[in-house]
Amino acid sequence: MMRDMPLSVRADLADLPAYIPGRKIPGAIVLSSNEVSTSAPESVLAAIAAAAADVNRYPQMANDDVLVRTAEYLGVAEDRVTIGAGSVAIAQQFLQAMCTEGDEVLYAWRSFEAYPIITQIIGGRSVKVPLTADYRHDLDAMADAVTDNTRVVLVANPNNPTGTAMRTAELERFLDRVPDHVLVVLDEAYREFVTDPEVPDGLRLAEGRENVAVVRTFSKAYGLAGARVGYSVAPPVLTAAARKVGIPFAVNRVAQAGAIAAMDVAEELLARCRPVSVERARVHSALLEMGFEVPPSEANFVWLLLGERTAAFNEHCLDQKVVVRAFAGEGARVTVSGLPEENDAFLAAARSFAG
Ligand SMILES: Cc1ncc(COP(=O)(O)O)c(C=O)c1O
Repeated sequence: MMRDMPLSVRADLADLPAYIPGRKIPGAIVLSSNEVSTSAPESVLAAIAAAAADVNRYPQMANDDVLVRTAEYLGVAEDRVTIGAGSVAIAQQFLQAMCTEGDEVLYAWRSFEAYPIITQIIGGRSVKVPLTADYRHDLDAMADAVTDNTRVVLVANPNNPTGTAMRTAELERFLDRVPDHVLVVLDEAYREFVTDPEVPDGLRLAEGRENVAVVRTFSKAYGLAGARVGYSVAPPVLTAAARKVGIPFAVNRVAQAGAIAAMDVAEELLARCRPVSVERARVHSALLEMGFEVPPSEANFVWLLLGERTAAFNEHCLDQKVVVRAFAGEGARVTVSGLPEENDAFLAAARSFAG
């Protein structure tokens, strides 16, 4: 007879890092989650409302319509596209498709805080390579850190939370050095905010490479953070595997309809990114003038190196009704809004803290 054993969950979950979402405080200016501040266009809201009316019905299991539309939008074959419940879900699907217990997942640190979480969830082993002194990916050190046990490298370009971006030549050199058995997931969640022409379009960079997957999202530039939908473009074998491990019906019908409607008005949505990059330059130089250390950003946020002053800075901003994202002992990530008045409120808080 089986011995009566107490129920126990996986022991390693005790030290699974928690994902800390940006705070939302009613009445405050929210600059903590790198969202856009303006609501989706009317046509997108209407498509979402129409989809919600059929909420008693399951969504399309294989995301057929949004998949076909995304492939057409990007000019890539449908068998290269995966639709998922946010780009972080797709990144996790690639890890699940590639790794078994103990396999190594390599990434820069600090980078997107979900990377250690999804790596541990799938039973992988994180290998973290420190950023350079100027808060950029140390691509040579990352290539050096690849071993026979490495299965995936996660590369965010631009990086979260530093905002720093890698350029074509250095990324190509890196991809040339990564062995064929290792999948590189190029995470371009903030791609649409990039203005430096030397920062590559990952889809072009990945062309002809069998071990590169590009992951992007409708959450940021396309204004659908609340709907949870993203996509990847990867060689067909990888795409088939990533789709296979996805949770059935993970992308709900509101998200599917929202993504299609957003692509229909892509020009309008992408035009909204331009004021963000203009504001980013203004916010960046104002912060430098105040004496803060802030690496140049290609994303819709800036990273203030504050060290031990981080908690005090966070509290000060909250007192001024501005919510930023604090990383204890390191710094604060602050979304650059497309609305100048929101950035002005943040800059006023930063100025009074510095002063
Ligand atoms: C680098 C990076 N990748 C992915 C994501 C997740 O985006 P999604 O909303 O598509 O899951 C984020 C969100 O903060 C991010 O910063």
